[in-house]
Amino acid sequence: MKTQNLMSFRLVVVVGLASIGLCAVYGTIQDVPSVKWDFIIVGGGTAGSVLASRLTENPNFNVLVIEAGPTNEGVKESIIPGLVSRAASSRYDWNFTTVPQQGLNGHSITLERGHILGGSSSVNGMVYTRGPASDYDRLARVSGDSGWSWNNIRLYLKKNEKLEPPADNHDVEGEFDPTVHSSTGKVAVTLPNNLSPAIDIATVQASKELGGNFRFNLDMNSGRPLGLGWLQSTVGHDGTRSSSATSYLDIKTKARTNLHIVTDTFVTRVLKTSGTKGLTIRSVEIRSPNTSDTVILTASKEVILAGGSIGTPHILLHSGIGDQSDLKALNIELTLHNPSVGKNLTDHPLIFVAFSLAPGSIDLGPWENLDNDPTLQAQALALWNKNRTGPYVEYAPTHHIAWLRLPDNSSIIKQFGDPSSSRESGHIEIIHGMFEGTYTASPILVSPASRGSLTIGSNNPFDNPLIDPGYYTSSFDILAIREGIKNAIKFSEAPVWKNIITGLVGPLANASTDAEIDAAIRNNTRSALHPVGTAAMSPKNASWGVVDPDLLVKHVSGLRIVDASILVPVYMIAERAADMIKSKWHD
Ligand SMILES: Cc1cc2nc3c(=O)[nH]c(=O)nc-3n(C[C@H](O)[C@H](O)[C@H](O)COP(=O)(O)OP(=O)(O)OC[C@H]3O[C@@H](n4cnc5c(N)ncnc54)[C@H](O)[C@@H]3O)c2cc1C
Ligand SMILES: *[C@@H]1O[C@H](CO)[C@@H](O)[C@H](O)[C@H]1NC(C)=O
Ligand SMILES: *[C@@H]1O[C@H](CO)[C@@H](O)[C@H](O)[C@H]1NC(C)=O
Ligand SMILES: *[C@@H]1O[C@H](CO)[C@@H](O)[C@H](O)[C@H]1NC(C)=O
Ligand SMILES: *[C@@H]1O[C@H](CO)[C@@H](O)[C@H](O)[C@H]1NC(C)=O
Ligand SMILES: *[C@@H]1O[C@H](CO)[C@@H](O)[C@H](O)[C@H]1NC(C)=O
Ligand SMILES: *[C@@H]1O[C@H](CO)[C@@H](O)[C@H](O)[C@H]1NC(C)=O
Ligand SMILES: *[C@@H]1O[C@H](CO)[C@@H](O)[C@H](O)[C@H]1NC(C)=O
Ligand SMILES: *[C@@H]1O[C@H](CO)[C@@H](O)[C@H](O)[C@H]1NC(C)=O
Repeated sequence: MKTQNLMSFRLVVVVGLASIGLCAVYGTIQDVPSVKWDFIIVGGGTAGSVLASRLTENPNFNVLVIEAGPTNEGVKESIIPGLVSRAASSRYDWNFTTVPQQGLNGHSITLERGHILGGSSSVNGMVYTRGPASDYDRLARVSGDSGWSWNNIRLYLKKNEKLEPPADNHDVEGEFDPTVHSSTGKVAVTLPNNLSPAIDIATVQASKELGGNFRFNLDMNSGRPLGLGWLQSTVGHDGTRSSSATSYLDIKTKARTNLHIVTDTFVTRVLKTSGTKGLTIRSVEIRSPNTSDTVILTASKEVILAGGSIGTPHILLHSGIGDQSDLKALNIELTLHNPSVGKNLTDHPLIFVAFSLAPGSIDLGPWENLDNDPTLQAQALALWNKNRTGPYVEYAPTHHIAWLRLPDNSSIIKQFGDPSSSRESGHIEIIHGMFEGTYTASPILVSPASRGSLTIGSNNPFDNPLIDPGYYTSSFDILAIREGIKNAIKFSEAPVWKNIITGLVGPLANASTDAEIDAAIRNNTRSALHPVGTAAMSPKNASWGVVDPDLLVKHVSGLRIVDASILVPVYMIAERAADMIKSKWHD
């Protein structure tokens, strides 16, 4: 294992993990003992860690997890919620950017992905959202597997979630519905802390004043998200991030002698397994960019790709699984022609909408200038180190989320149809709260009609893939996010904000016509960092898609995909996948 720079503020529990982790966590493939692997999991990210934990509950399964990034242990940017923005463009980020986007005036934008044990769950914004029940029901319908329906997957949400009191222990009555939560799962979930109460009170007041799209919703994780409610975050009562690595790869799990994890190790390809009938893929190739060393490992049962929505199709394409003419053009030997690999990439665009506040008009609390004041930042860190309180127990003081729809009679829906799964599902998500000294109500388009693709530009697996989310290539999307902005502005005009909010700031400040708003959108869109769909699930006999509803790769034996390449709610997918795999293989 690589020597970590032991920071003075490391948690006792983290030190404990590190020492026990030595039994089963290796920093190089050369140190991994030679064992008969039942399962090899590629990517120790959000889904990979769930699978590692659940599969090794069966003591007969030997599991190897191969993770490209370093360990999460002792990484302060990951552990301390308030420091996560420092993980972007660091060694914990794959540093991907999109190809120039036609819909964004030719700009490329960054697309962070976790390069660390725990994957993106070790560096994400920690917003805990399940989405609408109708999304799951639509998936069940489209895939032909009723096991993906809301009623069936609730079991897995329950196995995943561990609701805890917030770090500041304030009374959370009225901020959520306890009946839709679980306190028996793995990943800690908490409500926000009372850091700037006046802003929270005003936000809820605005919701009550406006009703309609902004009506108060006691719990947006009930399966019916519409309206404005309190944020829920994957942060523990102890004020630290709860990632799939901290929650599923806990001390108990890591002490299992049947689980082995190797970090800092990049899988280049999956390979046909020799001596098998038909197309069987149960082998992985590990190469170093600088040496000719190649290691090939074979699982006796399955190789499970959990490299995420970028990493997994990247591996498939370099393995010759993709569109045959694209592969031929790159001199990659064809393993399996499947033109769906990497196609239909779908992401959620986001635009910051910020409002200035009249100085002194509302009490912003003692941390008002945190973002710009190094002295406050030092105090915040000291407080977090002392007793896990203060502003660093959360990502940012954005404490509410609204999910809203275009009206039923909207001309946009009349013209383009409705891409959402039902009238209980949002088109737009708005993130509300303080950010860098402004009040923000930033829309994310969560029902995009645009589709892009992930391709590769060379046959060198160490080159980054070409990521094209195709933002705003469907007109529905720009029109819908424009409505999101107009809703955000309407929110800022609620009576409670009179004398407090003084107006828009930033790129939208001077945009008044629709054309000006659209121009500002195209110049300032970012990714909400939810790329999905690059190895889509489809019905068993469909002519398109990459995996069957049981997540096995079509026309291949031995290879399964479990991550956001399939769809968004990764913890649920991974929990159900673990059950499917355990019921298929008994010993
Ligand atoms: C900065 C950021 C903020 C986000 N905010 C939120 C949020 O607030 N709420 C929310 O619900 N979602 C959020 N998301 C999205 C969410 O975190 C992801 O959708 C989810 O974690 C993806 O899980 P995954 O298992 O598919 O992939 P990941 O968790 O990314 O795991 C993939 C793993 O595979 C490894 N890997 C990839 N290729 C290889 C290879 N060739 N060899 C070996 N290992 C490999 C990677 O290093 C990584 O550890 C955010 C994402 C990011 C990056
Ligand atoms: C991402 O970029 C940063 C800054 O250039 C670099 O330090 C880091 O190592 C890069 N990440 C990876 C995984 O290479
Ligand atoms: C490979 O070599 C490059 C440049 O020569 C260097 O930056 C990189 O760190 C090396 N990678 C490994 C894994 O040794
Ligand atoms: C993209 O997805 C649609 C269904 O949403 C499907 O009909 C189509 O075939 C997919 N395209 C590819 C190339 O897989
Ligand atoms: C944490 O420490 C601060 C500063 O000493 C103190 O004000 C606060 O009450 C403490 N909180 C808890 C929960 O112990
Ligand atoms: C949609 O319905 C609302 C309320 O019934 C009405 O005020 C609005 O004008 C209608 N809009 C369109 C485009 O028909
Ligand atoms: C908006 O217009 C005003 C006045 O013309 C100008 O001072 C300001 O810089 C503009 N703001 C932006 C974000 O372009
Ligand atoms: C968009 O960005 C370009 C530079 O990339 C700039 O010239 C243009 O004025 C910007 N437009 C708006 C509306 O911000
Ligand atoms: C798929 O096709 C096979 C034969 O072509 C058939 O036996 C099977 O029932 C079909 N399965 C589904 C789910 O339609």
